[in-house]
Amino acid sequence: MVYGRGSFNQLDEILAPNRKENYPMIFLTDHFFQGKPLLNRIPLRGNDKILFADVTHEPKTSYVDALAQQLKNEFGTVSGIIGIGGGSTMDLAKAVSLMMNNPGSSANYQGWDLVKSPGVYKAGIPTLSGTGAEVSRTCVLTGPTKKLGMNSDFTPFDQIVLDPELTTNAPANQRFYTGMDCYIHCIESLQGTYLNEFSKSYGEKALELCRNVFLEKDKWDDECDDKLMMASYAGGMSIAYSQVGVAHAVSYGLSYLLGTRHGIGNCIVMNHLEEYYPEAVIEFKKMVEKNNIDIPTGICKSLSDEQFDAMINVSIGMKPLWENALGKDWEKIMTREKLRALFERL
Ligand SMILES: NC(=O)c1ccc[n+]([C@@H]2O[C@H](COP(=O)([O-])OP(=O)(O)OC[C@H]3O[C@@H](n4cnc5c(N)ncnc54)[C@H](O)[C@@H]3O)[C@@H](O)[C@H]2O)c1
Ligand SMILES: [Fe+2]
Repeated sequence: MVYGRGSFNQLDEILAPNRKENYPMIFLTDHFFQGKPLLNRIPLRGNDKILFADVTHEPKTSYVDALAQQLKNEFGTVSGIIGIGGGSTMDLAKAVSLMMNNPGSSANYQGWDLVKSPGVYKAGIPTLSGTGAEVSRTCVLTGPTKKLGMNSDFTPFDQIVLDPELTTNAPANQRFYTGMDCYIHCIESLQGTYLNEFSKSYGEKALELCRNVFLEKDKWDDECDDKLMMASYAGGMSIAYSQVGVAHAVSYGLSYLLGTRHGIGNCIVMNHLEEYYPEAVIEFKKMVEKNNIDIPTGICKSLSDEQFDAMINVSIGMKPLWENALGKDWEKIMTREKLRALFERL
């Protein structure tokens, strides 16, 4: 791991020992950076290539498969995949790296420990802070039948470069939604039944940093970007040894049916979780107000019974999340009726 303002400039040096003769480094770059000055700083050598990641929608298994196939057709294999972008681009980079060396479709590997071979070298460079995708052992994908990550020991990046300068121009709303992903990771980890000293140590630090940037600071400055990038890292480390909770379980349902993006989806849900995280929801609302952010409401207003059922099925299927949040007897607490009532309020 490399951290610091301007550390992106070390990329050439970092990649050099990982280059395999005649095989390119592929810079999978968030499409936001098309035509932006950052492109001129990417250290292209030989047959290296910049590919733009279309993250209009969060990553799908079909897109991962297509990208991996395209690279196999063009180069046979590659020296490495460098993901430069938000959580979506980083997850795509992890998944494409794995699919360079594992047969079939990425949909076959959605689950726990199904990936059998290491991928090609992979590096992650976040341009938004909050998801923790830079440190996690998963890459979240929507497949033909489920939204679930490829969770495996081969999924984490070989290298991460944390350069807060890259997040400087993120729009305030996006920065808040992704930042709240981190805040919510901390709350769900620290108030969960899976909590342990490892998760607590990282979670408390990440929470302190989130509070500082979203509540205590008067205006957003470089220090906020520096802090939020470390909060994201620590928040990701916290959930690595625990689990997320109610906001994530419900937000997965929204995302599956309505395509709601992860950060904003978590915020939409958190807004209504007084019963589960009473103090945190009050604090969350203060952050929303202080930062002048709009949280959509009424998004489930006109859904049919079938659509509610589909969301409930996805959400209630996230068993470890519920167990972490509510304990071993969670099924007695979170019934389908109760969950339906919660979805109706969103
Ligand atoms: N692997 C994990 O552990 C993990 C954890 C949480 C979330 N996720 C995944 O991360 C994704 C969400 O990531 P995210 O919240 O970082 O957003 P994102 O990657 O989906 O990007 C959101 C938007 O911001 C744009 N963007 C990226 N960097 C920017 C910048 N510097 N300035 C302006 N715009 C920029 C993107 O082009 C996109 O339009 C979801 O797909 C979610 O499933 C993964
Ligand atoms: Fe998250």
